[in-house]
Amino acid sequence: MENKPIKEITVSGIRPTGKVHLGNYLGAIKNFVTMQDEFETCYYFIADYHSLTTHNNADLLPVNVRRSLATYLACGLDPEKAIVYLQSDLPQIPELYLLLNMFAHKGELEKCTTFKEKIRTPGQTVNAGLLTYPVLMAADIIIHKATKVPVGKDQQQHLEMTRTFANRFNHLTNSDFFPEPQGFSYGNSLIKILSLDGKGGKMSKSDENENNAIYLTDSDKEITKKIKKAKTDTGPTEKNSPLTPGIEALFGIMDCVSNPEIVADYKEQYANCTIKYGYLKLQLAEDLVKYIAPIRETIFEIENNQEYLKSVVEKGGEKARESATKTVDGVRKLLGINYF
Ligand code: ADP
Ligand code: TRP
Repeated sequence: MENKPIKEITVSGIRPTGKVHLGNYLGAIKNFVTMQDEFETCYYFIADYHSLTTHNNADLLPVNVRRSLATYLACGLDPEKAIVYLQSDLPQIPELYLLLNMFAHKGELEKCTTFKEKIRTPGQTVNAGLLTYPVLMAADIIIHKATKVPVGKDQQQHLEMTRTFANRFNHLTNSDFFPEPQGFSYGNSLIKILSLDGKGGKMSKSDENENNAIYLTDSDKEITKKIKKAKTDTGPTEKNSPLTPGIEALFGIMDCVSNPEIVADYKEQYANCTIKYGYLKLQLAEDLVKYIAPIRETIFEIENNQEYLKSVVEKGGEKARESATKTVDGVRKLLGINYF
């Protein structure tokens, strides 16, 4: 790997739980791609164990894993620049997960917002994997001693918990073995792309209604239809009104994919109540189609090339295991699992 300006380690992953959407791309994958040229060592993986906490379908998993992997590559991840692998190809992950469980308190896991949300989902079994989800995520991150984690805003609390477990481990073993990882996004803060249902929640893979998310595999027609149907209000009636969630969702996407001057112009029209949502939607649909079409075509091309996908994760897995083994050896020693 060539010499890169930032001498830090970065790690991130996405769960193979369905079609990758614009929120996943703008909140996470797009940053992975930029970071691979700047950060010394980049680990990007498919969090297949994490998907089993909520999605247990043995027929769908391989399809979703291959598609997620193809999406990484289609979005521009380069296996020569970044280490791309599958979580389940690292046996050191379950070992570190088990050991870190001794440093995670039941009460703090139960208080985790994503846990509380997930157990409210009708039909969701409250399995122990769901409760200890943040411990597994912490293992993913600190196994490479990463300091920067490109994720969307929804992962902030998980990262806080990762820092808690890492610090507790350091404290109890009287060491400074693990550094503190921080969330990362280009721009000022972690981002949240909103659902198109106008309710203010995040765009999500688990949304039952496919019209609420734009997927990277959507056709031009589907993209246009979804934007046209996106829920908004009847328009501002008072100057400088705050954005309602529906229009905030559309501006949020526009900020990422459209010409900044055009976006500023629409924001001005919103502020002075002259905006026509129909025109804004047409503009956004056109810009989104241009943005997504090349990614979509590449995903379809790569996902059928299983030999290539396999070779990428074999090579990545080997490198990731090297770093993971070193960390787990160190953890075992510090815990006294080192008898003869
Ligand atoms: P989902 O939440 O849609 O099931 P994942 O949990 O696999 O997707 O998330 C993968 C990455 O995408 C994470 O870094 C997450 O923070 C980011 N992400 C997910 N949804 C959004 C969103 N709506 N806006 C910004 N980032 C998001
Ligand atoms: N929890 C993350 C999500 O739902 C996925 C994930 C698992 C992850 N392990 C990670 C993200 C490690 C960053 C680093 O999106």
